[in-house]
Amino acid sequence: MVAINLIDYPRWPSLARESILNVPADIRNVKVNIDGRVIDYSGEVDSVVITGMGGSGVVGDIVSDLCWFWDCKVPIIVSKNMRLPRRLSKPLVIAISYSGNTAETIMSANEALSRGYPIIGVTTGGKLSTILSNKGVPVVLVPKASAPRYGLPSLLYPTLIILERFGIASVANELESGISGMERALKAIDEAERLAGELLNAIPIIWVGESRRGVGIRFKNDLNENAKYFAIVSIIPEGAHNDIAAVTTKQVGLRHIAIMGPNDYEGRYLETLLDVVSSFGAKPLVVKLEGSTPLESEMYGVTFLGITTLVLAHLLNVEPISTLPIDRLKEELDKRKLFPV
Ligand code: F6R
Repeated sequence: MVAINLIDYPRWPSLARESILNVPADIRNVKVNIDGRVIDYSGEVDSVVITGMGGSGVVGDIVSDLCWFWDCKVPIIVSKNMRLPRRLSKPLVIAISYSGNTAETIMSANEALSRGYPIIGVTTGGKLSTILSNKGVPVVLVPKASAPRYGLPSLLYPTLIILERFGIASVANELESGISGMERALKAIDEAERLAGELLNAIPIIWVGESRRGVGIRFKNDLNENAKYFAIVSIIPEGAHNDIAAVTTKQVGLRHIAIMGPNDYEGRYLETLLDVVSSFGAKPLVVKLEGSTPLESEMYGVTFLGITTLVLAHLLNVEPISTLPIDRLKEELDKRKLFPV
């Protein structure tokens, strides 16, 4: 196999370390005055809304996974929409957009401001940065990568620090282990090559438990965006009540792949599901997430599976970085003035 271009993956450990330096130390002392109404960042929050799309939005899914293991003090609401959920009481809103130009995220950020919620932007710049900074709202400016999804650690690590500063999760002791997870995956290229070879000529059905939803979604997104490959994520237990019924399909070739972490409470459930899937003739693959902390196994998973999709792109002779249909959709939305931003 020729050497795979790992794009920004080898920089992930340093992106994680660099990006957290940019979170303002005094973030809880911020007070923002919007049209005479003061938004006070020192107040108590009773939920965290993480809003963003695609490679930025997956940060919310990953944080949500981690909170199945950590003692997160408030619910994490993952929002991938142009509106915020209704009836929030005292939320902290974290608006994440790598480019800062994603209309859905800008609209959600504007809604947070008009509803008087404390909000923090995480971005490399763009309109989101300008709109928020002009109002005195804190923005964490993060280092750039070749495309949003390759900058994941730059978006995730500041978010974790924000959660720490707001007393929502105690993450400081785990950050280095997350970096170890990335480094470990960067050494597992042979394994990634083997797995990518197994995914050829079939639609991957990715089985994950609720507590690894983020790893499954990220893997699917990386298959879509890097390898331009369709894939489905089935989250169990729910997927065991519907998706599983289609394992007998004859219309398309399926490749079942289960992702399991070391201490996932859904582990035995997933094993049972795989036995049932196998009893219908399938030969499921199993990816075991390695790591001694939740963040380590999560970061091992997203890094290892991301690299696998780069290998798959290579095998398919597909250019991994560009995502022309996404760009075209954003242009069309812009042209048709769907969003007032
Ligand atoms: C492209 C990618 C996309 C973007 C999404 C939102 O690499 O990952 O899924 O992340 O279109 O754009 P940003 O992240 O700039 O807000």
